[in-house]
Amino acid sequence: MNVDGKHYRTIWLSETDERVVQIIDQRPLPHQFIIEDLTNVSEVARAIKDMHIRGAGLVGATAGYGMFIAALHAPQNSPIAFNAQLGEDAKILMATRPTAVNLEWAVKRQLAAMAEVDGFAKKIQVAKTTAQAIADEDAEFCRRIGEHGVSLIEQISQRKSGETVNILTHCNAGWLAFVDYGTATAPVYAAHDKGIPVHVWVDETRPRNQGARLTAWELGQHGVPHTVIADNVGGHLMQHGQVDLVITGTDRTLYTGDVANKIGTYLKALAAKDNDVPFYVGLPSSTFDWEKRDGIKEIPIEQRDATEVKYIAGAHEGDTKTVLLTPEDSPAVNYAFDVTPARLVTALITERGICEASEAGIMGLYPEKRS
Ligand code: MRU
Repeated sequence: MNVDGKHYRTIWLSETDERVVQIIDQRPLPHQFIIEDLTNVSEVARAIKDMHIRGAGLVGATAGYGMFIAALHAPQNSPIAFNAQLGEDAKILMATRPTAVNLEWAVKRQLAAMAEVDGFAKKIQVAKTTAQAIADEDAEFCRRIGEHGVSLIEQISQRKSGETVNILTHCNAGWLAFVDYGTATAPVYAAHDKGIPVHVWVDETRPRNQGARLTAWELGQHGVPHTVIADNVGGHLMQHGQVDLVITGTDRTLYTGDVANKIGTYLKALAAKDNDVPFYVGLPSSTFDWEKRDGIKEIPIEQRDATEVKYIAGAHEGDTKTVLLTPEDSPAVNYAFDVTPARLVTALITERGICEASEAGIMGLYPEKRS
């Protein structure tokens, strides 16, 4: 993804010191572009928990690099002490955010990779190459999601005789939520790059406004026409034929097809069903949960601090200001995700292709997971 003409990923090792991980701090976006250094496990854990970085794929990639940093700093006086420290750091990282399954997946992949080799230097080297492999795969899988998903937009464009295709998205499942390209946005970028006229309705996505702040910013950087809408507008637009398809991302999708995503996604899926608007979910295989069956009963839903609901932040005279929105004493509750049952999802767009949101559809693409 280009920012002011320069190519960036969302996470990388510092060119001057490969013991330092660099990220784009997403909190001040779109008003300020700040690169942050992460040098120890506490800094990595804070960056994930306090959402300097966010989005399922990027949370996973950051945890992968976090385990590399953990290996760099683990005591090298005995293998037992080294492994004990890695175990502690793994727990700290996995406790940062509960819903995105990529986090646990990346940490466990790192622990398994390091367990395969002997010697401190080798373990550190393996942790580094594994972190880079997780990041590279994430970018490549998102690129392929774009390649598969663009066919859906192309078909609608042909049906509309080349008229603009209107896509609604929720939250930010874009470049910023992954290492590159994004999931929901990858087909949109691919269509735009092919010259297919597209326009994106961007849900603002209260309370943290990932749509209004981040999706709008990255679509703008790529030159994709878009309009920010308040969270409750989507249903009205669908009733008036102004949405051709919905594409969202997901933080955890069960092998049965139930989809956990940013709070409010379920309501958009209901409105889409009622208006015969196709509802697609883009995801890399790292976001599948191969164990749980029932999304509503089993997916852990993160509850965040009520201040995110009660206050709102934005730019004011060259500075960022946070202001109180509600009566000071009113209690607020902040559920960060909800679950959209498989029956409301038209199809999943993965790096291997498009499939039905069902056990049969998913296992058809990932037969090696059948056992
Ligand atoms: O709380 P966030 O911003 O980390 O939420 C995760 C998301 O980015 C969205 O739910 C997104 O749509 C899923 S795809 C990364």
